[in-house]
Amino acid sequence: MAYYVIVQGNNFPVTQYGGVGLNKYIINGGKKLSGRVRVHGAKNAVLPIMAAAVLSGDKCRIYDCPNLSDVNNTINIIRTLGCSATLAGDVLEIDSSAMSGWEIPEELMREMRSSIIFLGALVAKMGRARLCAPGGCELGNRPIDLHLKALRELGIEIREENGYIEAIADRIHPADIHLSFPSVGATENIILSSVCIKGETTISNAAKEPEITDMCDFLNKMGADISGAGTEFIRINGVAHLSGTDYKVMPDRIVASTLMCAAMTTKSEIELLNVRSQHLGAIVSVLRESGARIEFFKDKMYIRAPEKTGSVDMIKTQVYPGFPTDAQSPVMAALCYGNGTSVIVENIFDSRYKIIPELRKMGADILQDGRVAIIKGQKLSGAHIRAMDLRGGAALTVAALGAEGESLLDGIHYIERGYVELETMLQSIGADIKKI
Ligand code: UD1
Repeated sequence: MAYYVIVQGNNFPVTQYGGVGLNKYIINGGKKLSGRVRVHGAKNAVLPIMAAAVLSGDKCRIYDCPNLSDVNNTINIIRTLGCSATLAGDVLEIDSSAMSGWEIPEELMREMRSSIIFLGALVAKMGRARLCAPGGCELGNRPIDLHLKALRELGIEIREENGYIEAIADRIHPADIHLSFPSVGATENIILSSVCIKGETTISNAAKEPEITDMCDFLNKMGADISGAGTEFIRINGVAHLSGTDYKVMPDRIVASTLMCAAMTTKSEIELLNVRSQHLGAIVSVLRESGARIEFFKDKMYIRAPEKTGSVDMIKTQVYPGFPTDAQSPVMAALCYGNGTSVIVENIFDSRYKIIPELRKMGADILQDGRVAIIKGQKLSGAHIRAMDLRGGAALTVAALGAEGESLLDGIHYIERGYVELETMLQSIGADIKKI
């Protein structure tokens, strides 16, 4: 039986329930959307920023922090380490002056595999870390071999025993690290581990995702000396001290992509506030190919969907600035309504196709062969469907918004890991969606 944790607001206690999520969405499809909606701060930026904040030994204030279950879980991790962390509205305050812990309990690690990012932060700050290895998760096994190899190159002694990873940084030193694959998490872990090592550490074939640049901008504001973030070669000149700072998190490019796909499935025209055009190039190009009109004005964008969504020859998910794997499922939902056949190749995570059987329940015609999905567009109708992962859940919501009739979507606790009240965002632009 699967277990998950519901975090009540931003406060303890954490309550454990057996079974699957209790909340559901009821979506009456076919309603046009209109108006404007603001995109909240990026989950994948704020999580590493929260890990970085504990390095300050001081107070940090993080603005536009999304109130998500993953953020609340990370708050619990930070509190376990002896720091204080409070989220009031969208302002997160972390005070790490009393930090004393270097272990993350298994139940908190199990909740969120991306907590592996604390490995780097803990060795940098406490000189050691103990946490359980991330095993299977909603996207299949997430290996951390690249993280561990790189940290060992920094002289960190790492022992793996009974599912736990123990790291000791007694002989930590700078290094020139080459990543065989530009992993986002490994790049972040190397930066966090090395930010206070005396001397210069370099990363070649680093991941270039904007969320890494956001974490580096935050660290530099704390007094770090990191250059090259956003390129494949990053230099980290170790500094002796970091101090507290204030920082505003970048907008969530995947939330923006999801809302754009909602405009596509409902054939609507909407305005998104708080977006950065430079982060959305790959998705904008695909949606324009399928007929959308998209225009940017500073930090706003307008999208007008075509009456008939066109097909897209081939989408291949790639590392940034290629097409993001996280936007693949919402785009698949949009292409299910396409006028023709589209092809998707998923190159990053094997388990992204768990939504295909759910989309088929709505009438979608999708043929899957390994990493390749061939989508023949047509009308979808409402069905009882289940989210199996975060982006898949958002994609099913997007699909249901365009479908004829009512859909009941289970498993929305996955969606709440990455979208702040998706239902409220969508209601504000006219969608008929209710959380029950
Ligand atoms: C991050 C994002 C996630 C996004 C992904 C790719 C966060 C919290 N999560 O995840 O939403 O989908 O980037 O953009 O920021 N790999 C290895 N060995 C490793 C590390 C990774 O083989 O040591 C493989 C993974 O199995 C996967 C690929 O590399 O196939 C990409 O993983 P990675 O870039 O590390 O993604 P995450 O940091 O886990």
